[in-house]
Amino acid sequence: MTLPVPSASHAPVASAPGHGRVTLARSRDELAAALAIDDRADSTGGVPRAVVMTMGALHQGHFDLVTEAARRVGPGGTVVVTIFVNPLQFAAGEDLEAYPRTLEADVEGLTAVLRAPGGRDAHDSLAVGRLIVFAPTPEVMYPRGEPAVRIDPGPIATVLEGATRPTHFAGVAQVVLTLMHLTRPRWALFGRKDAQQLAIVRAMVRDLAVPVEIVPVGIRREADGLAMSSRNAYLSAQERERALALSRALAAGREAARAGADAAGVRTAALEVLEKAPGVEVDYAAVVDPDSFVDLSGAGLGLPGGSVQPAGAVELAGPSQPVGPVLLALAARVGTTRLIDNALIDLR
Ligand code: PAF
Repeated sequence: MTLPVPSASHAPVASAPGHGRVTLARSRDELAAALAIDDRADSTGGVPRAVVMTMGALHQGHFDLVTEAARRVGPGGTVVVTIFVNPLQFAAGEDLEAYPRTLEADVEGLTAVLRAPGGRDAHDSLAVGRLIVFAPTPEVMYPRGEPAVRIDPGPIATVLEGATRPTHFAGVAQVVLTLMHLTRPRWALFGRKDAQQLAIVRAMVRDLAVPVEIVPVGIRREADGLAMSSRNAYLSAQERERALALSRALAAGREAARAGADAAGVRTAALEVLEKAPGVEVDYAAVVDPDSFVDLSGAGLGLPGGSVQPAGAVELAGPSQPVGPVLLALAARVGTTRLIDNALIDLR
């Protein structure tokens, strides 16, 4: 399908650096045709490809992922951005219908972010060889309806976000693995804002030997500290102000660690801020291993120690003796909007 947006076209074979094109693929065939251009060029040296998976309603946090993807693939490479509000990761009563869908603005934003230095407008050339936007419908993603074979995301998916949203990560893992197969990237970039999603995707790629490198990208914040999220659009002005309690709680946890607190002390410092904040209903404040999601604070949040081998730099010599950064993860409801935020914190 040809784009109803700037620079729309299926790119010619091997776009020259700095003369990249934008392709919007709505079907699997259109995506395959767009990727086949890289595959043909591949025989003459390889076209590096990175994917950024999104649900659209793109903001600067997504654009940071895209910028890092562009840096990795270089001027002749291909960046694939997928835009799909995945029904499998929403439970009944969640915001599947209300989730913002802004495809045209998203493609405009991506084109602007990837514009070559010196490019004049959105019709100008890209800093990468090609941008492919894959925006399927649910029928395209799941042509036979509910997939028969399902991904079990394992124990990490049962705690914290998984305790409140028990089917969420299975739906995420299903779509992420399917999109990896459809887009076949060398790199897939994921934001640290969804720390539990990142840990599950890393574990899935490791355990299922998926040939892709997962690249984490840091959390983008508004000037006042609020972590960027497409769901911030649901907040009223008063709720947005109240939501700042999450980033203040992270700062309190970090400060406690600097003053010598252990994992339990970091958690207490953050929780105190959240509990004092008006209009903020705390779901959890947890300190866990960022890879295994083993509980480090003794609060019974996260997985029990010993049930999963920590996969990263953290070694457990006891319930709160980690070596390397710990993850302070928060979730709270502000009005009807559930917000999450987190920080990696070094304990002394
Ligand atoms: O993080 C998200 O936006 C989604 O969970 C993802 C990875 C695009 C899968 O639908």
